[in-house]
Amino acid sequence: MVSAMYNFIIKPLLFKFSPEKAHAIIVAIIRLPFVKMILGALFNFRDERLGTEVAGLHFKNRIGLAAGFDKNASLIREMASLGFGFIEIGTITPLGQPGNPKPRIFRLPEDQALVNRMGFNNLGVDAAISKLKKIKKKNLIIGGNIGKNKITPLENAKEDYLICFTKLFPYVDYFTVNVSSPNTPNLRELQDKKPLTDILGSLQKLNLTKEKPKPIFLKIAPDVSFEQLDDIIDIVQQTGISGIVATNTTISREGLVTSAHTVEMIGSGGLSGLPLKHRSTEIIRYIVQRSNGSIPVIGIGGIQSAEDAIEKLEAGASLLQIYTGFIYEGPALVKRINKVLVKFQT
Ligand SMILES: Cc1cc2nc3c(=O)[nH]c(=O)nc-3n(C[C@H](O)[C@H](O)[C@H](O)COP(=O)(O)O)c2cc1C
Repeated sequence: MVSAMYNFIIKPLLFKFSPEKAHAIIVAIIRLPFVKMILGALFNFRDERLGTEVAGLHFKNRIGLAAGFDKNASLIREMASLGFGFIEIGTITPLGQPGNPKPRIFRLPEDQALVNRMGFNNLGVDAAISKLKKIKKKNLIIGGNIGKNKITPLENAKEDYLICFTKLFPYVDYFTVNVSSPNTPNLRELQDKKPLTDILGSLQKLNLTKEKPKPIFLKIAPDVSFEQLDDIIDIVQQTGISGIVATNTTISREGLVTSAHTVEMIGSGGLSGLPLKHRSTEIIRYIVQRSNGSIPVIGIGGIQSAEDAIEKLEAGASLLQIYTGFIYEGPALVKRINKVLVKFQT
């Protein structure tokens, strides 16, 4: 009933607006008084059996909101009321920055996909902290996805990650190091052996000086080769960080139903949603097999149904995240998946 309402009334209305405008409308609506309560009553689904332990943290269920939706930590309670087991805020950079010029998100409805080139638009780490300070946490895991400012030269990127890590440390439960967005020039070069070892090694060194270190995950691109992936797995193991988030958006445009002309008109950016599904699952499976299951993976990319979620869990993912599926399937998706996962044992 609620899904039908979303598919036949709400989505067609929202899709009349540009994706960024539609996002702003959704945000305005879910912030209205009482809406959070109504959303909670409609969409929250609790069952003890959904709970899981990963990297020493207890997640009430395996489905998280992916980074990029709540960049400034301003929607945590609202999104949690939709039944997400965890919320990843960000990507957050040390300084606020406007991101790329608009338009910078595009829908590819025939492919159930999005292309975005947002470019880490966010208000900066201090603004996020002022929001996080107001959150009363009850059984909700919050991840902090951190990145570098566009104006920071690549060779100084490590400092940006260290600043965000240090400042956010008291307010989040885990960190995701984002070196895989295609929309910050040359960022993905940080996935190369030397800079990656340096960044992750420095973060983990700092982490281990804390009384209670927090899990650090590395978010990778789906466009890495298996050879690169082998290096990444080695670095994750050597530095002793907690796990991998696989994957970010892809720069590939292979196999799309959308016409080549439309795709060309859209231009550069990261593709998310259904076309990413198989590649991200392949990467999850590779990491889990190659590490004999010793590296926890947060699986993400094209999850739009319970079957998609199960596919990724069967590939070995410990947790899952969703962004594009939420846009195409609506707010009932998380509950729909969790209802099926109650019966699914990994
Ligand atoms: C509009 C948009 C903005 C995004 N912004 C970020 C971001 O700031 N940081 C990040 O790590 N990933 C970001 N992502 C990537 C998602 O977190 C996710 O890795 C990717 O979209 C694949 O998942 P999906 O197919 O479920 O969307 C963004 C994705 C979209 C569609």
